[in-house]
Amino acid sequence: MAIEKVGIVGCGLMGSGIAQVSAAAGFSTVVREVSPELVDKGLAGIEKNLARLVQKGTLSDQQGREIRGRLKGTTVLEDLKNADLVIEAIVEQLPAKRELFGALDRLCPEKTIFASNTSSLTITEISTATRRPQRFVGLHFFNPVPVMKLVEVVKTIATDPAVYEEVVAFGTRLGKTAVRANDSTGFIVNRLLVPYLLDAIRALEEGVGSVEDIDKGMQLGCNHPMGPLTLTDFVGLDTTCYIANIMFEEFKEKRFAPPPLLKRMVQAGLYGRKSGRGFYDYTDPKNPRSIKLM
Ligand code: 3HC
Repeated sequence: MAIEKVGIVGCGLMGSGIAQVSAAAGFSTVVREVSPELVDKGLAGIEKNLARLVQKGTLSDQQGREIRGRLKGTTVLEDLKNADLVIEAIVEQLPAKRELFGALDRLCPEKTIFASNTSSLTITEISTATRRPQRFVGLHFFNPVPVMKLVEVVKTIATDPAVYEEVVAFGTRLGKTAVRANDSTGFIVNRLLVPYLLDAIRALEEGVGSVEDIDKGMQLGCNHPMGPLTLTDFVGLDTTCYIANIMFEEFKEKRFAPPPLLKRMVQAGLYGRKSGRGFYDYTDPKNPRSIKLM
């Protein structure tokens, strides 16, 4: 079965990025949010990205129009029932994801493939809310989705190998490099990235260096596009702490345990870029300044 129609649930940061790359790759794409306001907000973000790509000459006017023509926003879950592949990108909460997939399972024909963009929950645990764990995979994208070249394609013990290969091919058709991962908490990237981000926070806590120097060290010493504290602000301190807690719960290893400074910052509402303050203050977004933490 060739994937032609794609349904996406969630049009936030990740869902809207996935919808954009799906429509840009030629797939008929329907993206669902819970309210008309959230649909409009998500589509406006995509529109802004497409307008910039047209302005830069990366896309022609005609290509921009064709991409918009392949993209539809909705608040009605039933509008996804003709999709060949449904990708979920809603809140990172197991009960919400299981409830959604239970509803999709009742709605969609047997052939429809389901995928979750979860970054830290296990695909197996989500898939058992449906009667089709063999047609269930993980598709883990990276922020910002239109820019980042990777997608992790995750298989469980139950995933049908033919379904898995179809989704790997879909990831490639999106213009991404697909890496294959087994359903182990954090998959490949977060398994390695999360302890690194937490170690950077521990280094700050222990006074090894300042916020700027820790960031510059990794940016210039290892050629990373962002230093680890800037990247934690970008991912979200709340999200990082949440993922770390799930990984610690799973592996019971200290390297996954959120350091006290991270917990205190989350408790104080310093979530990073999204709240305007994290390791840096983004009052002037072009010139973030590190904040005094200790
Ligand atoms: N949407 C679409 N395009 C975007 C974008 C966005 N949100 N942000 C930046 N871009 C585009 C810009 O338009 C620009 O395009 P151009 O080269 O064609 O002009 C290009 O990206 C570079 O942007 P900038 O010049 O503004 O800034 P930078 O060169 O600093 O790049 C960055 C920004 C791509 C975000 C870069 O800093 C980077 O790669 N950072 C690391 C990001 C990263 O590691 N992401 C993974 C996070 S982990 C994750 O998502 C997993 C989860 O489970 C935790």
